[in-house]
Amino acid sequence: MEETQNKKTIFSGIQPSGIPTLGNYLGALQNWCKFQDDYNCIYSVVDLHAITVRQDPATLRHRTLELVSLLLACGIDPNKSLLFIQSHVPTHAQLAWVLNCNTQFGVLSRMTQFKEKAASHADNVNAGLFTYPTLMAADILLYQADAVPVGADQKQHLELARDLAQRFNGIYGDTFKVPEPLIPKVGARIMSLQDPTKKMSKSDENQNAFISMLDRPDDIMRKFKRAVTDSEAVVAYREHKAGINNLMSIYNAATGKSFEQIEAEFEGRGYGDFKKAVGEAVVELLRPIQEKYDDYMKNKDYLADVYTKSAEKALYISTKTLNKVYKKVGFVKREF
Ligand code: TRP
Repeated sequence: MEETQNKKTIFSGIQPSGIPTLGNYLGALQNWCKFQDDYNCIYSVVDLHAITVRQDPATLRHRTLELVSLLLACGIDPNKSLLFIQSHVPTHAQLAWVLNCNTQFGVLSRMTQFKEKAASHADNVNAGLFTYPTLMAADILLYQADAVPVGADQKQHLELARDLAQRFNGIYGDTFKVPEPLIPKVGARIMSLQDPTKKMSKSDENQNAFISMLDRPDDIMRKFKRAVTDSEAVVAYREHKAGINNLMSIYNAATGKSFEQIEAEFEGRGYGDFKKAVGEAVVELLRPIQEKYDDYMKNKDYLADVYTKSAEKALYISTKTLNKVYKKVGFVKREF
């Protein structure tokens, strides 16, 4: 990471729970790359969070490396930013424990995501699932992050991290920077291709509902061909046209063309033409990323070099905060 004292720090994490979708790319990862110009960026593949639901060990290991490769392929630049694997930096789990002891059971029980996941994984409502938000708070607070890019589903967790920081500072004296949510100015909210009132999700049972960032061109073309639209046959951005609006947002994000330009381009043409154009634009958007991804996956030594150097730096930075915390709560200084 460049030594840039005057830049603000961003922290964000992504779970290695499958290949991100086109929606994840346009809504989040593309912005992660853009932030690198203006901020010190610290990005982590959060495997500790991933095991709050049952994981197959070999699959988790593979997905973690896949995700590191994909983030590099998207344009995360290890000369500018840190990109590390959460379990490599022990301070995360260490701070999470102290934060757990400063977080009320009642507060964690009210977290929407916990309630949802407890319902959908009723056979494995483990303590880690319950304390997931304090681990996430540790991720952020360890680096004294100024800002955290998060989607709507993580806002409540970020709010908890802010409350924790403020309360801890109140009890023990100034320790943590209170992080701000970063709601990007640009960044599309991409919806399911099969039900455009729902967010595009990689865990959708219907494979046609989402585009994975590693989908091959014919799959992409086929999924757009089958995308749900309406019966008006007019390419226009209107309130009651969720399917077309979504395709227009995707086309806009992939080509940079404005909605007016898109409307003009497809005036008097059918949805078939439009869907084909959207599919082709997405194929071209993802092609260079997929090519780089394949290269990184073939170069495990390089990957290891990136995530190891980043983890060493992350450990150095985060240890300063952890030491402060340990001192404040009354632990005896470690003399080795
Ligand atoms: N909980 C986040 C998610 O599922 C991932 C995450 C873990 C994260 N730690 C974080 C996001 C810290 C932002 C900051 O999307």
